[in-house]
Amino acid sequence: MTILVTGGAGYIGSHTCVELLNSGYDVVVADNYYNSVPAVLDRVEQITGKKLARYECDIRDREGLKKIFSENKIDAVIHFAGLKAVGESTKLPLMYYENNISGSVVLFEEMAAAGCKKIVFSSSATVYGNNPIPYKEDMPTGDVSSPYGRTKHFIEQILGDVYRSDNEWSISLLRYFNPIGAHESGLIGEDPNGIPNNLMPFISRVAIGKLPCLTVFGGDYDTKDGTCIRDYIHVVDLAKAHLCAVDKILGTTGIEAYNIGNGKGYSVLDIINAFEKESGIKLNYVIGDRREGDLPAFYADASKANKELGWTAEYDIDKMCADTWNFQTKNPDGIK
Ligand code: NAD
Ligand code: UFG
Repeated sequence: MTILVTGGAGYIGSHTCVELLNSGYDVVVADNYYNSVPAVLDRVEQITGKKLARYECDIRDREGLKKIFSENKIDAVIHFAGLKAVGESTKLPLMYYENNISGSVVLFEEMAAAGCKKIVFSSSATVYGNNPIPYKEDMPTGDVSSPYGRTKHFIEQILGDVYRSDNEWSISLLRYFNPIGAHESGLIGEDPNGIPNNLMPFISRVAIGKLPCLTVFGGDYDTKDGTCIRDYIHVVDLAKAHLCAVDKILGTTGIEAYNIGNGKGYSVLDIINAFEKESGIKLNYVIGDRREGDLPAFYADASKANKELGWTAEYDIDKMCADTWNFQTKNPDGIK
């Protein structure tokens, strides 16, 4: 079986390529390297001892996609390619709609043209907006606070319409919670350009001395210690959820959404404490103002994925922090 992985050189995509190759799938990656480098794919090959096919291809490039589908018999697609910076999306909404939504539409059209109607889509817990916690898949979605989040909601809706128009499609919408951590080899991990927006890469850059101080966004929330609560999930657990989803869509038709989280909430201070314990480094941090748009707390009810995909997260926050630190210390300047 051959899987096309869009955005396969990125953070989650690269870990998923490792799991796919280790499970015996053939992998074809399409990435425009906007937020990644080809060397990541060399490292995926180094970890697995297997080769993958790679195309420098933008998903908005119809001819590029036609070439991939004509040169490979693709059985299913895992669609990671997209822009993901929430703050940037509020300043550049059209760039996000064009890249994420227009790109996805071109991809779905070319999949249909090639007769490949099986897809796993990277969605996000952000689609739930202000629902009661824990989030469940049957809750209303779409009340989202950023253009980025809206691209995820709209693409879910588009895929719903695609399925309703043609019941041969098999679609899995994976709503990720907060992926952190890295492959235990330390060869691949999260390597954002510039100053990180997300908590874990910010923490590890402070720990290694590349940034002076972490600001904790808000210490006055109505939570156990006043800081926000999130459902952190090890990126390797998340990658394995894609394997389960691919196995499922290969044998069925339909459209289903699944929460991919640990089902446990940890505060920002919990993460700082776990990181300090695993790295042996005292983190320099201050409690600052709240960040606009942050919800106080959310975490997953992941029981649907546990039951229907046969997937359960295995790793705890100590392992997430240890693997993040291992990647950071082995790659102090990132992957070039
Ligand atoms: P990432 O930026 O590391 O990976 C995305 C990859 O897609 C990059 O390699 C980038 O170069 C590529 N890409 C972007 N636009 C492209 C285009 N038009 N054509 C081809 N390639 C393109 O991000 P990630 O953290 O690995 O996230 C993967 C997916 O998961 C994204 O869709 C993201 O929105 C979603 N997601 C991520 C998180 C998270 O916290 N990391 C949470 C929820 C959902
Ligand atoms: N935080 C800080 N300081 C920082 C960065 C983050 O205190 O420098 C806090 C945030 O306020 C939040 C928590 O750490 O409470 C996690 O923040 P992240 O930015 O790492 O993650 P978010 O929960 O804001 O967002 C993530 C993804 C989004 C996705 C969302 C829901 O980045 O793509 O989860 O899935 F939409």
